[in-house]
Amino acid sequence: MSKFAIAQRLKGLPTNSIWEEMTPLANKHKAINLGQGFPSFAPPKFLLEELEKVLENSEQAPLAHQYCPVRGNAELVGQLGKVYSKHFSREVGLPNLAVTDGVTQALSATFQAFLNHGDEVVLIEPYYDAYYQDIYVTGGIVKYASLQPSTESADQWKLTRESLLAAVSEKTKFILLNTPQNIPGKVWEEDELQIIAEVAKEFDVVVIADEVYMYLTYGKPHLSIANLPGMWERTITLCSAGKTFSCTGWKIGWAVGDATLIAPIAQIVSYQTFCCSTPFQIALARAMAKAEGNGFYEKFRGEYAARVDEVCEMLAASGLAPVKPKGGFFVLADISNVDPKHYYDPGNTSQAKDWQFSLWLTKTIGVCCIPVTAFCKNDSRPLYDNYVRFACCKPESELHAAAERLQKLHDYLR
Ligand SMILES: Cc1ncc(COP(=O)(O)O)c(C=O)c1O
Repeated sequence: MSKFAIAQRLKGLPTNSIWEEMTPLANKHKAINLGQGFPSFAPPKFLLEELEKVLENSEQAPLAHQYCPVRGNAELVGQLGKVYSKHFSREVGLPNLAVTDGVTQALSATFQAFLNHGDEVVLIEPYYDAYYQDIYVTGGIVKYASLQPSTESADQWKLTRESLLAAVSEKTKFILLNTPQNIPGKVWEEDELQIIAEVAKEFDVVVIADEVYMYLTYGKPHLSIANLPGMWERTITLCSAGKTFSCTGWKIGWAVGDATLIAPIAQIVSYQTFCCSTPFQIALARAMAKAEGNGFYEKFRGEYAARVDEVCEMLAASGLAPVKPKGGFFVLADISNVDPKHYYDPGNTSQAKDWQFSLWLTKTIGVCCIPVTAFCKNDSRPLYDNYVRFACCKPESELHAAAERLQKLHDYLR
């Protein structure tokens, strides 16, 4: 074996991700890429103006271009403190915050900081794919609780207490909750959060709450589990600027929680990256302060609600059955109406039905989507292989072009 093969402990990890398969395929076939969830339009003007001001002021404020403290630039920490003191109705300050390189780093630092070999983490599938890799790399063990799917609406994707209890044990350290949940666009309700909170308390577990889509809910409030009685002490809440301010490339995120939970995360951040880009943090802090009063969040939510409606209409008009989301960037579609004889080879067991559909749709129809079975364990594939995911975070022109192309699907329906 080569001395420079990937380390033994990483051998079980997949060598390439769904993105490495679908994005080049979309490019090759000039497909409209509704796969990956990054906005392909500019961030809001008032955010870009703040960045320009930081750059213009470089001579007078050169420290804006240097390392900042591990916990984050003081302006951003101050702004986050204000936002979260209000959100959690308690004093949230420097000891409760760590700014990270997106939620991606916050997750990795959290697992690095707390997981001992063999500690277990419960993921609620279908889940954002990076969770699994982050846990695996630290020697942690993933246990799964599955949402029962429903074509009716994303909110009908339900987790039963039994399914959660079957996944939790004395070895469980974390339950990872994503609300609004990326896949399927579910906004968790209070009674559902209550079940997680009760189980967390019973088994002495901490909840990692990934809330990157917290400002994107459609007709329902976003609820943070840390606000439930007794949960502040056992929740690490994660969020980032990328989705809210259409700047996923800025990579600024944060972890918020009880000081004892945040200190080990900050310690790991200090080894990994020390800090993230200072000028971007400053611009973000100033823009966030403005966003509180300039109606940005309402406008942002309204624009996405319109995109979500448009994608749902486009899917329904093409013969697919949209699963109406209550939050986030994505719409799932039930593909049952498309005749599988056109795209599905049951002999190909390495790619589930939805996976083969996504490849076929990209090549034949020219619209790229993502199979939901990319976000679950192998055994759960039959549960989710009727669903594919379309991103709404694209400009009007792209959505219109996709709608036109999807009309061709009528030739392939049952
Ligand atoms: C649920 C969820 N969490 C985290 C991330 C990554 O967040 P960030 O861009 O802040 O690293 C994503 C990105 O798609 C996501 O969907």
